Amino acid sequence: MSDDRSKGIILIGAPGSGKGTQAKKLKDQLGYAHISTGDLLRAAVKEGTALGQKAKGFMDAGQLVPDDLVIDLLEEALQTPEAKAGFMLDGFPRTMPQADALDAVVTIDKVIDLQVPFELIEERVTGRRMSPSGHVYHIEYNPPKVDERCDVTGEALYQRSDDTPEKVRERLAKFDSETRPVIAHYQQKGVVVAVDGVGDPEEVFTRIMAVM
Ligand code: AP5
Repeated sequence: MSDDRSKGIILIGAPGSGKGTQAKKLKDQLGYAHISTGDLLRAAVKEGTALGQKAKGFMDAGQLVPDDLVIDLLEEALQTPEAKAGFMLDGFPRTMPQADALDAVVTIDKVIDLQVPFELIEERVTGRRMSPSGHVYHIEYNPPKVDERCDVTGEALYQRSDDTPEKVRERLAKFDSETRPVIAHYQQKGVVVAVDGVGDPEEVFTRIMAVM
């Protein structure tokens, strides 16, 4: 029997492991629809939608947004023609209920497990700067050409409200308790590939392409 469900890959890893950075490169190279639940939630908060108002407090506290809200958001994002042709998930699934909901509607070909030791994460996350249109910088590892301005749009860069040392620790604890079981779930299915996320982003990208 042929499988006509949408197919895609998952980029999974701790906060600050470089999922967003690598997802943008993969999208350019492979053309998959990039679905980041973090980006979708931040957009909802910015627009002040009902979902954004519910999600904001959880995000600011470094907590996970409740499963039912995120699953609805993801299911909607999977409906676009681009996603039906092939998708790449960044930041979803993060809990077992999310993984079960996903497995019920699509086929996951591969899970890229981006591995970065926790001791390197805090520096990456607290040094991150974002442009309102979603471009990601780092004050040391990927600085903009003009201080505090986006290279692409010229907009002023900002720091995410959850990118403080205390919130990073909260987020890493959630990764350990909620997301590691998701990685184990896909390991049992034989679709997980571990990739070393330490080093220059271009080097990491080369490692990912080698396993695609
Ligand atoms: P989300 O936006 O998904 O955050 P995250 O998973 O914590 O991941 P980050 O965006 O922090 O990091 P990243 O891995 O994308 O790293 P990046 O490439 O930016 O989620 C935010 C919040 O939304 C959650 O806390 C939660 O509240 C909510 N949420 C989202 N999805 C949810 C879900 N499914 N369920 C429930 N709640 C959900 O890189 C980080 C920094 O490092 C950058 O400055 C970058 O320039 C730099 N960098 C990248 N690669 C390298 C490298 N190789 N070397 C040096 N520096 C690097």
